[in-house]
Amino acid sequence: MAKIELDNMILECPVIVGAEKEKAIDISELRAKTGYITLDDSFSNTGSCKSAITYIDGDKGILRYRGYPIEELAAKSSFAETAFLVIYGHLPNKEEYSRFSGLLTDYEILNESFKHHYEGFPNNAPPMAMLSAMINALSCYQPEVNNNDISKFDVSAARLISQVRVLAASAYKMSVGLPTVFPYPEMSYAENFLHMMFSLPNRPYEMDQDIIDALNMFLILHIDHEQNCSTSTVRLVASSGANLYASCAAGVCALWGRLHGGANQAVVEMLNHIKNADYNVKEFIDMVKNKKNGVKLMGFGHRVYKNFDPRSKILQAAAHKLFKKAGQSDELLSIAQELADYALNDEYFIERKLYPNVDFYSGLIMQALGIPLNMFTVLFAIGRMPGWIAHWKELSENPKRRIYRPRQIYVGETLRHYEPMSMRG
Ligand code: SDX
Repeated sequence: MAKIELDNMILECPVIVGAEKEKAIDISELRAKTGYITLDDSFSNTGSCKSAITYIDGDKGILRYRGYPIEELAAKSSFAETAFLVIYGHLPNKEEYSRFSGLLTDYEILNESFKHHYEGFPNNAPPMAMLSAMINALSCYQPEVNNNDISKFDVSAARLISQVRVLAASAYKMSVGLPTVFPYPEMSYAENFLHMMFSLPNRPYEMDQDIIDALNMFLILHIDHEQNCSTSTVRLVASSGANLYASCAAGVCALWGRLHGGANQAVVEMLNHIKNADYNVKEFIDMVKNKKNGVKLMGFGHRVYKNFDPRSKILQAAAHKLFKKAGQSDELLSIAQELADYALNDEYFIERKLYPNVDFYSGLIMQALGIPLNMFTVLFAIGRMPGWIAHWKELSENPKRRIYRPRQIYVGETLRHYEPMSMRG
């Protein structure tokens, strides 16, 4: 028990110990018994739930999905198989996998009327705006989603995972005035996405297996990351009873921010800026360290990791291999490496425990895959979709779930009364 002494009273609060020995003070009776609330700006010290999906140890740089180390899944699994693991809690057997991948195939075609939605967007519409809108639009074609029919969850989840890549690829193709192409049933998830993004109906499109494997690994690395900003958004929206698609569409909006999923695009913009600027990497780092400049080293720092983000290590190795394979100029990769070398040996970053996060190299991977810059965060959303779905399911299946409704400390005007306009100064 934890004892909290307030106004001459002592409140005893239960201590919760997690599967990996993390500890929390359960303060659920604090306000009822003392009138006090806690205040924790940006929730750095606040757990919103108990979850069995993902475990992170930020000090040791550990990330596990349902107990499996991310390094093993990234090297050995497929996106579809890891998506099943994160959603259902175990690696699928042959029959379970065949049923799940069969659902992904059965529901990979969009309703033909979606074309009209796309035509309503301007050509330069931000793909993340389109994605969140189109995910909500998907639910209009599936009434069972709107009434939260949990017996249809498997189909709704598989349809969302399958169609989010079709929505993304179609948005890209329409934005560049090219014809959309249908997915092929016999292709893997990653292979099909590349096929829909880059193939054309009037000529064969050969895909390199290393490129397909790199995208598969990229998507696995992005599947889940416990209570990050966008996943917490999905859970908060789901707690009101909102359907799976509405909750995930809200997740897309939260992910879009530059401090979160938008960072992968911001990193490559930063690298291009340095490449074209008339100052060098060391001078850029000095600019970052001088707060008055308001410049951040994008792709560095993390609320939880105070050590290397294990995903960035895997992506860094893949980036070097890919650039060599793709025969593309690795100038941006060299600038990224130089930035990291400087930062990791600089007191400013060391004392603040700032290390490369998942976004530092992920944008370079997507660039090597030929993904356009404005689609980088969309790929993050495609990867994160199974994680959002898993958290929606975990919350929705909790018999003790309640609507998320934080309190506040009011710091505005005290009581005052209305005055007619003629009496106002
Ligand atoms: C993702 O939460 C997740 O799990 C997210 C994610 C996921 O998988 O879902 O991992 C994906 O969003 C990764 C993060 C991507 N964002 C960026 O790369 C943007 C750049 N990073 C920062 O904005 C920042 O590090 C955050 C947003 C990631 C974390 O912010 P915090 O935890 O609020 O840290 P902070 O702003 O309080 O920083 C502490 C100190 C401050 O300096 P002091 O006030 O102590 O002097 O570190 C400094 C900050 O100014 N700092 C940075 C910095 N990040 C923090 N200084 C320069 N460059 C940076 N990138």
